[in-house]
Amino acid sequence: MEVVICKTKEEASKLAADMITAAVKKNPKTVLGLATGSTPVLMYNEMAKAVKARKVSYKQVKSWNLDEYYGLAGTHDQSYRYFMNENLFKKIDIQIKNTHVLNGLAKDPVKECAAYEKQIKAAGGIDIQVLGIGSDGHIAFNEPGTSLASRTSIVYLTPSTVKDNARLFFKGDMEAVPKSALSMGVGTICEAKKIILLAFGENKQDALKGCVEGPMSQFCTASALQAHNDAWIFCDEAAAKKLKLKKYYAWRSATKLGL
Ligand code: F6R
Repeated sequence: MEVVICKTKEEASKLAADMITAAVKKNPKTVLGLATGSTPVLMYNEMAKAVKARKVSYKQVKSWNLDEYYGLAGTHDQSYRYFMNENLFKKIDIQIKNTHVLNGLAKDPVKECAAYEKQIKAAGGIDIQVLGIGSDGHIAFNEPGTSLASRTSIVYLTPSTVKDNARLFFKGDMEAVPKSALSMGVGTICEAKKIILLAFGENKQDALKGCVEGPMSQFCTASALQAHNDAWIFCDEAAAKKLKLKKYYAWRSATKLGL
């Protein structure tokens, strides 16, 4: 696991976006795994800037998103499909037919999730998976207690995630936040060739500590990344506060990034 600690979330987002831009330039048919939430927005803006500056094109890129609320249509303004359209897809030159988000209205969620896994496999697997991290250590909607081998399925949100999501979205209304979702599994996520996890702010200190330095455990599903051989964590100083080996991470990431 490479841990890149930046002073600010702006700096971390730019570095992560640069990594994606470089990968897409090298392989215009890159398959991306994408995340929603407040964390990746700055990185998505940086990716859009690179497209505008004609440094890169997403015309041949395909994407699969991590998750979607169960019961919300893609047209709902709090759905993850809507979020992706507004925060990334409309700002870059990706073809909307090449973007995939689980269908929150699927009548048969088991079938929907199995088909999603098949599509990813048929595309050759995910080259770069973008992740945020929940304050309880979740990745996608894989809450504490989810098997680290889990596959895409219907899942249930913990009260702490419902609270976090209500604070940032749904105008603060906890009742309005769906309590279940369709989500890629931890096992599915860990099959990506490269993983980029972003973590910003004090609220993520404990989760990041569990992810990077805690025991690998289903009680912090982000800790599964410890067993991945190309996982990158881009965080700000606020989120990194509880990490013990900060100096070592700084030295190693500077060496690997050529900074
Ligand atoms: C979103 C997702 C979630 C978020 C996490 C952090 O697609 O899968 O795991 O990454 O809940 O959310 P924010 O970034 O809003 O703090």
